[in-house]
Amino acid sequence: MSDQPAESIRLRPALESLPSYVAGKPAADDGRARYKASSNESPFPPVESVRQAAIAALQSAHRYPDASAAALRAALGAKHGVEPAQIALSTGSVAVTGDLVRALVGEGDEVVFAWRSFEAYPILVGSHGGVPVPVPLTARHEHDLPAMAAAITDRTRLVLLCTPNNPTGPALSTEQVEDFLARVPEHVVVAIDEAYREFHDPATVLGTAGIFRRHGNVVLLRTFSKLQALAGLRIGYAVAHPRLARALGQVTLPFGASIPAQAAALATLQGDVPQELERRAAWIRAERSRVTAALAGQGWSLPVSQGNFVYLPLGAESAAFAEFAEARGLVLRPYGADGVRATLAEQEANDLLIEIAGAWRQPRA
Ligand SMILES: Cc1ncc(COP(=O)(O)O)c(C=O)c1O
Repeated sequence: MSDQPAESIRLRPALESLPSYVAGKPAADDGRARYKASSNESPFPPVESVRQAAIAALQSAHRYPDASAAALRAALGAKHGVEPAQIALSTGSVAVTGDLVRALVGEGDEVVFAWRSFEAYPILVGSHGGVPVPVPLTARHEHDLPAMAAAITDRTRLVLLCTPNNPTGPALSTEQVEDFLARVPEHVVVAIDEAYREFHDPATVLGTAGIFRRHGNVVLLRTFSKLQALAGLRIGYAVAHPRLARALGQVTLPFGASIPAQAAALATLQGDVPQELERRAAWIRAERSRVTAALAGQGWSLPVSQGNFVYLPLGAESAAFAEFAEARGLVLRPYGADGVRATLAEQEANDLLIEIAGAWRQPRA
């Protein structure tokens, strides 16, 4: 087969400058014990009743899913105190973020977000013809909200706030977000991506519900991939004001949320599953405190994480540290010359992280 016709296909020039999404490395199966702490996944499998719901749903896999996802949207509407029509679903919150870009951002329009943050943001914006406007984090690895507000121009259509921030960990407070929103024009949509919300210290977690009620331009992004342990089923959603939710429904992939994904997501909201998930979140928080304290004892200075991960700001040594860890059985996620993210995973993996971080600080030949 000649590849000449393929050579003449006119790809959009924007693709040339698009960064590639780097997925967390799998724990290679070469016979050695290895832990995967590179994708912020749950170390626990889905709760049993959730797994059973997904399996039972396969019985109907010859049918298309309920495109309106009526049962799940009703349950999510009740959870968030909004109308089901204000819930927009897709194949993960990354897809819903893409839907937001498609619904709001025309060629040359700008999207402001912190950087470093979730690496899908510049890809989603750039691939739809938008202009990514990354605003550097502060020296404490937090969103620089005054700089983000100052980066808003006439072309800005969307601002993405990631709290807790992936990969660095710090979260925004209600007061910070309210102050920021007071500086954002009402026609600019502000998405609050809370993929890691459940891992936040509950005493100080962002008052998102009140913020949503007070600001018509705020949209909430949530996922079932982290605490709910459904990353492989791909389902997430937005809570939006009805006009925006309708627009998300217009641009989203038809039938994106599959039958088992809808059934499993619904099951996470039922019976005693929410209590079981909260116990898991509390366990992760306790592990975060334990790991953070141990690393501080070794002399590490880490940003305060409210996620299911910690971030080691190693700068130019990031790649070397990730290799050092991998050689000792722990697969982490390096970010260029910025830092390395370690997911809080099984207890043994977290113990290994402490051991490796300590060994790294010993003088090496
Ligand atoms: C901040 C943030 N938002 C969204 C997502 C994507 O979640 P989903 O699996 O629902 O697409 C992730 C996944 O890592 C994330 O870190």
